[in-house]
Amino acid sequence: MTTERMQATTRPVVDMGELSDYASPSRLVRVEPGERALTLTWDDGATGRFHHIWLRDHCPCSECRHPQTHERTFALVDLPAALPAPHAEITNVGALRLQWPPMRELGPHESLFDPGWLRQRASPEGGAGVGGGPKQHWDAAIETAVPRVTHAAFMHTDDGVADWLHALDRYGFVLLHDGPCDENEVLRVAGRIGWPRETNFGRMFDVVSKPDPNNAAFTAGALEPHVDLPNWQRPPDFQLLYCLANDAAGGASLLTDGFAVAEALRDEDPDAFELLATQPVDFRFQDEGADIACRAPVIGCDVDGRLTEIRFNNWIRDTLRIPGERVEGFYRAYRRFWELLRDPGFMLRFTLQPGQAIAFDNLRVLHGREAFDPNTGYRRLQGAYLDRDPIRSRLRVLERQAA
Ligand code: OGA
Ligand code: ZN
Ligand code: ZN
Repeated sequence: MTTERMQATTRPVVDMGELSDYASPSRLVRVEPGERALTLTWDDGATGRFHHIWLRDHCPCSECRHPQTHERTFALVDLPAALPAPHAEITNVGALRLQWPPMRELGPHESLFDPGWLRQRASPEGGAGVGGGPKQHWDAAIETAVPRVTHAAFMHTDDGVADWLHALDRYGFVLLHDGPCDENEVLRVAGRIGWPRETNFGRMFDVVSKPDPNNAAFTAGALEPHVDLPNWQRPPDFQLLYCLANDAAGGASLLTDGFAVAEALRDEDPDAFELLATQPVDFRFQDEGADIACRAPVIGCDVDGRLTEIRFNNWIRDTLRIPGERVEGFYRAYRRFWELLRDPGFMLRFTLQPGQAIAFDNLRVLHGREAFDPNTGYRRLQGAYLDRDPIRSRLRVLERQAA
């Protein structure tokens, strides 16, 4: 029997009220009590430490978790701050059983935990996390292996959607190809995943050179690598650009993995990285009807220093308002980051064909274009934005179905 099939036939031993897969063949063999935490040992020797308060908070019984909504109904605040230790034992199917003494007006309570579910949570990274799958940083060499899915597979098959979502999560971009050149097809593509995220440019926008542009994208000029709308408190997470016509001379598309570049900067010049990751700067868009502004660092990191977002868009960066003693250092760091973002060694360059569309993580993969000459032919892309939540949700549901 293959490993996959073995997993498919493994069933949880305790219903944890959790829709993601947590079934595991490993069983608990030992529990060591402690003053405020228990140490558990699984049958393969792995161990994990769980605090009493954490265990009480996560009791999956139908009194503590709503059986239909799977949401927590248990309220920690109703119990004493210092919990008494539970009586703990391993059941004959290798699960954990805890018996809690009466507390305040609550009587005695029993909690049962599945060994696989606990195993997933023995380290803080485990269990259905929010970060998607592993990310693969890339450079210009990806040219020979551009992640791609046909329009037909994406629109009509579950596998096509899954391939598209996985590529987008892993590489931060994916090419859709061999689609129709139909007006508004970008909205049908977006609708396959969720619903477009509306902005001051509408539910959808036409990228054509216009006589009266309110944004650099609506000219025929070159666009340096950038993310769209870093002037928003919550910029759009993903962008779709669907090509309907591209006959004009020039207009090649450029993509750069901003996370790969930011890591290169962190290696090369940690002080420059630190400055861009900690010093907020202003971004701003203004036209007749809107003035949308935000102050945030160019490089976003989480508390563990992992990259979360890039905000680089030179034409909507506003006045630089930072302490005088940091001005020159900021420009030095910003300039080096920009040089690396432009470095052909990091950049994927290609020409979008009519019927092709790129989707990319707007806060990770920077996009740009070379100038085109509108006198030599017509160039028209239609764009739309998507939020991350429907995309991650779809990925998790697919994982659940694959289990
Ligand atoms: C945009 C943009 C790229 C292009 O519309 O935000 O960057 O290829 N367009 O025209
Ligand atoms: Zn309970
Ligand atoms: Zn753009």
